[in-house]
Amino acid sequence: MDKAAASAPGKVILFGEHFVVHGTPAIVSSIGLRAKVEASKISEEAVLLEGFGDENPAVIASKYILRKTGCRTGLSLRISSEIPQSVGLGSSAAVAVASAAAALMACSKALDSSLVLEAAHEGEKVVHYTPSGIDTSVATYGGAGVFSRDEGYTQVDFDLEYLLILNTGKLRRTGDLVRKVKEFADKNPNRFKEISEEASRIVQEALEALEKGDLPYLGKLMNRNQALLREIGVSSPELEDAISALLKAGAYGAKLTGAGGGGCAIAIADYASLDEIIHKLSVSGYSVIKARLVVEGVRAEPLSSPP
Ligand code: MEV
Repeated sequence: MDKAAASAPGKVILFGEHFVVHGTPAIVSSIGLRAKVEASKISEEAVLLEGFGDENPAVIASKYILRKTGCRTGLSLRISSEIPQSVGLGSSAAVAVASAAAALMACSKALDSSLVLEAAHEGEKVVHYTPSGIDTSVATYGGAGVFSRDEGYTQVDFDLEYLLILNTGKLRRTGDLVRKVKEFADKNPNRFKEISEEASRIVQEALEALEKGDLPYLGKLMNRNQALLREIGVSSPELEDAISALLKAGAYGAKLTGAGGGGCAIAIADYASLDEIIHKLSVSGYSVIKARLVVEGVRAEPLSSPP
């Protein structure tokens, strides 16, 4: 095959980001926004991605696939993505996963999820510093569930279909925030341990609430989780304003999602009031979307133009 295309979804972390890097579990769901990558064979022995250098997760993940499968070709990658970048929605992981899958299929191999995950994880190390693997796991397998460094990703049936995502538009780098949390943990080991234990309890309570579809309680847990994220220094004035606006407009609870420091806030609200909340916030100048949760993981896509 000379060309192949694949796509993978973005994600939201509902509970437990950052603490997951230090070993506690987190709850994550795929979202209905996807990144698509088309990989075309080229004669030059390189992986090319227009506008990006070699130190890019998509390029590294694709090179990993070529090396592991002994596929002797170069590749040109073309990305089209619905996932906004650098705002906590797993864009780089989705692009790395889709690139690895497209590279694999361009080499006429079947889509092997565990190899794709391995390749994308190698790529993510460039941008994430010490990635837990949560973003690449959910982009690969889709659905929703619990992730921990020790146990990996376990899918769980959620009774939660939609949540609100408010993009503050402030871009940031995951690696910088992961480093900042490590500094906090190194300086305040006892407090960090207590906070991590509370984060772990929130995850356990949230799993029960998700099973029952108890939206008001999930909202309360989000507020509790946000207080912990604020204390370890990963919130920001933009996020705090966004969260206050979401709560004032009627959400049950809200928090940052992903690395924080800007990026997106998420909120849980009664499904019947989602559109009204979006409207109220748009009047105040915020851009909010109703995101569908629990979607399909990496998959083959038709080519935009036939080979
Ligand atoms: C990034 O989406 C989530 C973090 O917990 C980092 C990671 O788990 O790799 C901040």
